[in-house]
Amino acid sequence: MKMKKILAVETSCDETAMSLIELSEKPDRFSFKILTNVVASQIDLHKKWGGVYPELASRAHLEAIVPVLAETMAAKTIKMLKSVDGIAVTAGPGLIGSLLMGVETANILGSFFSKPVISVNHLEGHIYSAFCSAIKNRSLTIPKKDIFPALALVVSGGHTSLILMNEHLSYKTVGQTLDDAAGEAFDKVAKILELGYPGGPAIEKLALSGNENAYELPLSMVKRDALDFSFSGLKTAVLYLTKNPVTGEKRKFNRADLAASFQKTVCEILTLKTIQAIKKYQTKTVILSGGVSANTYLREHFQKAIKKETDATILIPPKDLSTDNAVGIAIAGAMHYVKNSNVYEVPQAQPNWKIDNRS
Ligand code: KG4
Ligand code: ZN
Repeated sequence: MKMKKILAVETSCDETAMSLIELSEKPDRFSFKILTNVVASQIDLHKKWGGVYPELASRAHLEAIVPVLAETMAAKTIKMLKSVDGIAVTAGPGLIGSLLMGVETANILGSFFSKPVISVNHLEGHIYSAFCSAIKNRSLTIPKKDIFPALALVVSGGHTSLILMNEHLSYKTVGQTLDDAAGEAFDKVAKILELGYPGGPAIEKLALSGNENAYELPLSMVKRDALDFSFSGLKTAVLYLTKNPVTGEKRKFNRADLAASFQKTVCEILTLKTIQAIKKYQTKTVILSGGVSANTYLREHFQKAIKKETDATILIPPKDLSTDNAVGIAIAGAMHYVKNSNVYEVPQAQPNWKIDNRS
């Protein structure tokens, strides 16, 4: 197969991201070269609100989208766009106003340059980012078979899902959070500890100077055999260590110790449930991805425990591809491009799009 170029657009939350990649198909594998990876973060904009402010996010996407496109195409935007074979875009899940910015941009570019536009689910972007685990010289390969069944743990601000894959682009959610997502729990606990936004990196930094065994927090495992998660009880337990639930009176606590104990507990829950799922489905590969997978403690704890308990091959993206990016969207989009031989519907923003329903 001739090299194909795919441009990807990701605007589902608070990052305006684009990437240009090249794909070539071999009998047993796909090979990719990442030509550009541009991410314009809105963190500073949302900091003072302590979380993502949806209207501000869509306006910021609107301002960033053309400069990000120019940078992605190395400023030769029009000339280079003609040579692109397909445009991938995150169609959901995410914030409706933010998604629309990316989807409409992709649709306009697609119709102007007569290129197919491919809908990608945000979670599959996180999953395919993990194949950059062994990236070298901006190049990576993805085997066609041999790696399945595979299990992906996607841990982000909006999701904590265990997703089973029996082949490429096929997904079955076998476990998910019943309340808060893991990243959401990090962000809420950071708020309780007055650490600012985004909470995950702030907790990770503070936890380095804390004692992770100082506080015993509930290892909320839902039902023993179930693969679902629950983090709201853990968050409440942290809250009640900082103030009396009845009188609201502040309690004395050690911030670093509490951050470290919370981080350890979340990572233990995530790892234990993943090991349970690997054993249940006999998976050959396990993927850890999504914003929370940028956490060094989680990466180390997860790898150590999984290596000890299972034979599964572990894939974790480099840290800059754990959080939202368009490289994973481009890789997943390229896989769909190969599979669907250019038959696509015009993408529509779908804020609640479930990965299981993607076809
Ligand atoms: O995947 P992502 O960038 O966006 C969503 O799809 O939500 O994930 C963002 C989440 C936030 O909740 C953030 O606090 C968390 O990932 N996060 C972290 C770390 N870096 C980002 N959580 C723990 N430790 C980190 N180092
Ligand atoms: Zn994400």
